[in-house]
Amino acid sequence: MEEQNSEVPLPGQARIRVGIVYNLKSGNAPTGVPDEEAEYDSVDTVMAIKKALERGGYDVSLIEDDGRQLPGKLMRAREEIDIAFNIAEGRGGRGREGQVPSLLGYLGIPYTGSDETALCVSLDKDLTKRIAASYGVKTPKSVLVKSGELSKCDIHRLKFPVIVKPNAEGSGKGIIGTSIAETPDALVTLLAERMNTYRCDFIVEEYIDGREFTVGLLGNREETRVLRPMEMVFCRHTEGNYNVYGYHVKCNYKDYMNYVCPARITPEQEKKLSDAALTVYKALGCRDFSRVDFRIDRQGEVYFLEINPLPGLAPGYSDFPMLAEASGIPYDDLIISILGAARKRLVI
Ligand SMILES: Nc1ncnc2c1ncn2[C@@H]1O[C@H](COP(=O)(O)OP(=O)(O)O)[C@@H](O)[C@H]1O
Ligand SMILES: [Mg+2]
Repeated sequence: MEEQNSEVPLPGQARIRVGIVYNLKSGNAPTGVPDEEAEYDSVDTVMAIKKALERGGYDVSLIEDDGRQLPGKLMRAREEIDIAFNIAEGRGGRGREGQVPSLLGYLGIPYTGSDETALCVSLDKDLTKRIAASYGVKTPKSVLVKSGELSKCDIHRLKFPVIVKPNAEGSGKGIIGTSIAETPDALVTLLAERMNTYRCDFIVEEYIDGREFTVGLLGNREETRVLRPMEMVFCRHTEGNYNVYGYHVKCNYKDYMNYVCPARITPEQEKKLSDAALTVYKALGCRDFSRVDFRIDRQGEVYFLEINPLPGLAPGYSDFPMLAEASGIPYDDLIISILGAARKRLVI
């Protein structure tokens, strides 16, 4: 007999109604940028979350952000759901990940995950690095280059090689194997090309030659659980002879990567990663779950790269479910735990 799940209501008790809010990949990127929809989800991910929640005893409805109709859908959902399970990435711009949480907050709909402020700040790599540094978390030296202000950028205080990344994106979007410049001249050419394609601010960061790790966090306040770190081991160089976990590599991970979780590092190194991850999570006021990316250089120095308060949840593909699995949390339990953390915080 199947064990009774604690979320299943007793007879006479109302079932909690959850609305999953999401963006789907449409397959026809309107601007022609090849990885334009990198951050959006597949229908399989949404269905996997739905199934996990239903198995947990919840009533689940689907609320797709398919453009302008989302505000109307959410107005109606106000009467129909008790909580939103938010994985929506937003429409665009530096604040895009905060757009749906802002709407949910405005309409008084409780939701899982971080609030709009934490999401907007975290999406801005330059701002996040400044905050992390002010809490004593080491991060590679970098310079922000505003869109259209290439000539004003002060790259002379950076040590080459450097990596060039969109300042407010995720999932490796706009980052390729050849996003590394070895000289100032090469950097100017690379930035001009990248800016012309992506038309956004870029961050130029000293390239950390070494090993790459990611750390998962689950829960809130004193109950926050730091999951064992995972190492992303490159089994071959990416294009350009560097190791870069960009969007193309993520999509073709079997050709490039081995994932080792828990990572084979010393307890001291693991503690450094966990402490830094928790510090940034708390500093930004992140909630319920997040994933934090790091590099450790050849001298053993830990560098924070970025935090993802809305990490991908694609089963068998995204890093966060892999981290959870390795810490003994199967996919369905992970989804229920994220919702559980939000419910506890919101007293629902
Ligand atoms: N300073 C750096 N040094 C070396 N590699 C980097 C650096 N910054 C980013 N990378 C590589 O690029 C990948 C994506 O960068 P990241 O900052 O995590 O952006 P995203 O939000 O797109 O995941 C990293 O996982 C890493 O492989
Ligand atoms: Mg990353």
